[in-house]
Amino acid sequence: MGTQKITDSARIKELVAGHANWYHQVELAPGVTTPGSHNSSLGLVYLDALGLPADCSGKRVLDIGCMDGFFSFEMERRGAEVVGLDYADPEITGFSIASSVLGSQVEHHTANVYELSRERFGAFDIVLFLGVLYHLRNPMLAFDRVRSVVADGGLMFVETQLSTDPTVHNSDVPLWHYFPRSTLHQDGTNKWAPNPAGLKAVIEECEFEVLQTADHGDRGYARARAIADHELEFFRKLDSGSGMWGR
Ligand SMILES: C[S@@+](CC[C@H](N)C(=O)[O-])C[C@H]1O[C@@H](n2cnc3c(N)ncnc32)[C@H](O)[C@@H]1O
Repeated sequence: MGTQKITDSARIKELVAGHANWYHQVELAPGVTTPGSHNSSLGLVYLDALGLPADCSGKRVLDIGCMDGFFSFEMERRGAEVVGLDYADPEITGFSIASSVLGSQVEHHTANVYELSRERFGAFDIVLFLGVLYHLRNPMLAFDRVRSVVADGGLMFVETQLSTDPTVHNSDVPLWHYFPRSTLHQDGTNKWAPNPAGLKAVIEECEFEVLQTADHGDRGYARARAIADHELEFFRKLDSGSGMWGR
């Protein structure tokens, strides 16, 4: 994306005002922050408490569902080489504008989380999977695709909507609450929201070890490390291939 930082404050304000749908609050210049609805700095406080490294020098980072790029640009600021991925075009989100103003080197890919593969994207030391999981029809498939691009021992940070039903939310049984049609926040893309036990269980089923979790209201967070587990790998391959039955 951009390489030459824009410093003219009037021009930056004009660019910000020219985009109607900011989601993130990205500080583009002293006193100029994009007017997003998302409390981006609070999200970062929660991730830092979960162990997001302050120094990411030498790390390769993937930000899935990067939207306007708040977390991508923050990881770049912390020294990482960053890839941002979103199925929304960066001209439709505010990513292109923010990237140009910041003179960012973050590489944006317009792609679906289900398209992730080691062959196409390489391996990452840290993957941010924030605010995307509950939008997916196939959450376990997505975790499998994410796992395929996490380097051995690499970290995944997850943030998601949790079940809005107190009985489900508070249960120790791993449960996922399904939202037909547009029954969660009038948004037809919202499909599955786990309880905390369900989030941990599914992440672990996809060859991660959950190192830390946190809940903030109806949002759940997890930090997980990629592991190898041949039994889990067998059942993943069984589900996605053919000819393995009974082995
Ligand atoms: C609620 S926003 C979260 C933005 C950011 N990750 C955060 O946590 O602040 C969800 C983002 O995920 C993207 N998204 C949803 N489903 C996706 C998919 N299947 N593949 C790639 N991106 C997806 C949307 O376009 C949107 O930018």
